[in-house]
Amino acid sequence: MFNIFKKKDKLLKEDISLSALKTDIHSHLIPNVDDGSKSMEESISLIRQLKSFGYEKVITTPHVFYNSFPDGIEVLDEKLKELQREVERNNINIEIALGCELLLDEDVSDRMEKKQIRTFSDNYLLVEFPMNTLPMAYENWLFDLQLRGYKLVLAHPERFLYFFEDKRKYALLKDREIIFQSNIASISGYYGEDVRKAVEYLIKENMVELLGTDCHGQRHIEAIKRTLRNPLLEQLILSGKLINNKL
Ligand SMILES: [Fe+2]
Repeated sequence: MFNIFKKKDKLLKEDISLSALKTDIHSHLIPNVDDGSKSMEESISLIRQLKSFGYEKVITTPHVFYNSFPDGIEVLDEKLKELQREVERNNINIEIALGCELLLDEDVSDRMEKKQIRTFSDNYLLVEFPMNTLPMAYENWLFDLQLRGYKLVLAHPERFLYFFEDKRKYALLKDREIIFQSNIASISGYYGEDVRKAVEYLIKENMVELLGTDCHGQRHIEAIKRTLRNPLLEQLILSGKLINNKL
């Protein structure tokens, strides 16, 4: 009879260090190329704070979608070097690497033909879907990318609530060896209660293999700070299921 009075999980007494993760694989830290950081100063401040969470390496993943880099994605390589130089100049001991967050939509094959993407580590490619509607052809696109040899990482599957509403779709994606990357701040409800429930489901089903900050700005740093005493985050980090430190 006391079950109805069961309290929510208590918060931990201290912040968890993210050093066991070693690598963050999702962020928007190259200034002025997407909806992430708006200046070099902001990027440096964000990177300094990511370092203080315990990260040793940050793979930054600018959004790539239709016509996002009309003069070619090579511009990102140059901007990465500028950012790396600035990180070094500020004496922040952290490695910065480049990937991208590829939006899967109608023109994805065209972009693949033109190689307008960036992968990280050993041919990993971070992908996302439109937030509100799942395109009919999504399975074909994923399969096509896998045939091209990419190891696909799906960004924040918990935020695509159309999957949560039809959980078999999560299982099908896992059967197809799609790696799930959840956002740390989803765990404490930053993206809403539905997303929090979805990420809790994914963690309990052992489907989450990567965690990411998806840091676009200071608001995400603050949201992550609010998650660092969350027992579910600790449980996931201690579970040995995550592969962040291999990337
Ligand atoms: Fe992102």
